[in-house]
Amino acid sequence: MAGRIPDAFIHDLLARTDIVELIGARVELKRAGKELKGLSPFTAEKSPSFFVSPAKQMFFDFSSGKNGNAIGFLMEYERLSFVEAVEELARRHGLEVPREGGGHEHRVVMDGPLDALAAAQRFFAEQLRKSPTAIDYLKKRGVSGETARQFGVGYAPDSWNALTGFLQQTRHAIDAGLLIEKEPGQAGTRVYDRFRNRVMFPIRDPRGRVIGFGGRTLGNDPAKYLNSPETALFHKGRNLYGLYEARLASTAAALPYLIVVEGYMDVVMLAEHGIREAVATLGTATTRDHLQLIFKSTRKIVFCFDGDRAGRAAAWRALDQILPELYEDRECVFMFLPEGHDPDSLVQEIGEAAFRELIGKAIPVTDYLVEQLAREVDLTTYAGRGKLVELARPHLARLREGPVLASTLERLHRLSGISHDQFQRSVADVAALPPTARMHDEGSGPPQTRAVRRAMRLLLEHPRLADTVHNVQLLLEAGLPGCDVLVEALDFFQERPGASAAHLMAAWQGTKKGEAIGRLAAEALPPLEDEDLAREFGQVMSHLSERGLRRRVQYLMAQARERDLTESEMREAEAITRQLATRSTAGGG
Ligand code: UTP
Ligand code: MN
Repeated sequence: MAGRIPDAFIHDLLARTDIVELIGARVELKRAGKELKGLSPFTAEKSPSFFVSPAKQMFFDFSSGKNGNAIGFLMEYERLSFVEAVEELARRHGLEVPREGGGHEHRVVMDGPLDALAAAQRFFAEQLRKSPTAIDYLKKRGVSGETARQFGVGYAPDSWNALTGFLQQTRHAIDAGLLIEKEPGQAGTRVYDRFRNRVMFPIRDPRGRVIGFGGRTLGNDPAKYLNSPETALFHKGRNLYGLYEARLASTAAALPYLIVVEGYMDVVMLAEHGIREAVATLGTATTRDHLQLIFKSTRKIVFCFDGDRAGRAAAWRALDQILPELYEDRECVFMFLPEGHDPDSLVQEIGEAAFRELIGKAIPVTDYLVEQLAREVDLTTYAGRGKLVELARPHLARLREGPVLASTLERLHRLSGISHDQFQRSVADVAALPPTARMHDEGSGPPQTRAVRRAMRLLLEHPRLADTVHNVQLLLEAGLPGCDVLVEALDFFQERPGASAAHLMAAWQGTKKGEAIGRLAAEALPPLEDEDLAREFGQVMSHLSERGLRRRVQYLMAQARERDLTESEMREAEAITRQLATRSTAGGG
């Protein structure tokens, strides 16, 4: 059985292919402005309406309505399946098509820092075998040799130069955050080991490559855990400890659920007890990137929180990130641990079966939301029930149209006991949000929706514009249809410096988003100089982010009416208010 072709390979293949060359060998093309033009190879047209865009690396055939990237062209023109088209392109470049789960791993590039990290992992694992103290520590904590091996656990010796001495060269290890330069930037300066006398937990990316480490001290270092610094490879907000191992442990294509916990030891100890579907955020709060990453492997996320006040506060903060990510059949539940326990200690005490039973009793996040809000009001009075709906509004606004929103509305409606019409009126502005991921012609729809589509078209034309956007969270806050798709596209291009519109098409192949992008990309922009393009993009973005700021501050205000804002929320609200004030004086709107 052949496995799936890795996305990274398809990405690489498209990057190596020039669509103009590919199509030019089969269709006669003439230059027409920024694009090339010819007779459609798919219809018997007399005047040319077939375009190839070198910038987007896509073709557009207006006579047949077909469009796509190099792979799509081969599929249409040579009547190949997707896999056959990929194989054909790979053959032209002398590459073998790798398969996920298959024996031979395809390595496109040998990355220096990745090699240093892999070498370090081997070194630490070897050192663990030689250290009775470290072995003893793990044993005392209940970690078996088998589990330690699965997670590649190791030990960094109590030395300033153990790893330094082991590595042949230091440059890549410095870049990977393993070694520290005494005088950064000075040629020939001495380096020393970042991790000393620590049990080392390698952090792997979804492909299983070690991208960083977390180390727990065995001494009395005030930093109990030390993590790799943020590097080009390693972003705490975008990676999860244990995700690769969880996927590896399961033969199913999609895991029934993934449990989000706080610590390395929680993940390891759950696995030790047969619960291998746990991941840990790396000492940060859950981000939307985390959620999106987890939802690639499962439809259900179980969040573990401490049962105390801090745990409930953390749950409330997580809710903020979760609501916009809850759509289609996605599900998120909260599990609160008995006080004084973390998952590590609890699973040791009660075992796998009882732990899984608790997971089964975890509460859906929207139920949690409604319950928390209902506590704030007096449901026995008419005014109280009206207030419940008011309090829920900003949260409802963060949910996408779909079954989750529908059932939450229904529940609120029942609790509020107000008439259907009146309820509908009071939530009309937030709950009637049109479904997202739909992008029509720029010409129709309200002006803000047009702005989102405009931004997307400019971005497809010039993906590097993505680098100019620094706060995608604000765009999400703007809450306009299509903003989430725009943010996904921005993320995509930010992560892939060489990518063109064709790469995005490949990644979104066969999805509604992909079709929408294809249609948008097919609409030619009026010829704009790159400079004008960038200026216009900047204007649209600042318009959208301003809307995001306004909505965020409204949301915080609404929160402030029902609870004390945290210190950082307070600072945020102040900062936004200041920012909006300067904007309105500077920009006049
Ligand atoms: P905890 O302090 O709850 O750790 O931090 P733990 O996992 O229960 O630790 P043990 O059981 O004493 O070994 C939870 C997570 O927060 C991050 C780490 O990711 C840790 O696993 N953390 C904690 C740090 O990054 N640095 C620290 O100094 C402490
Ligand atoms: Mn612990």
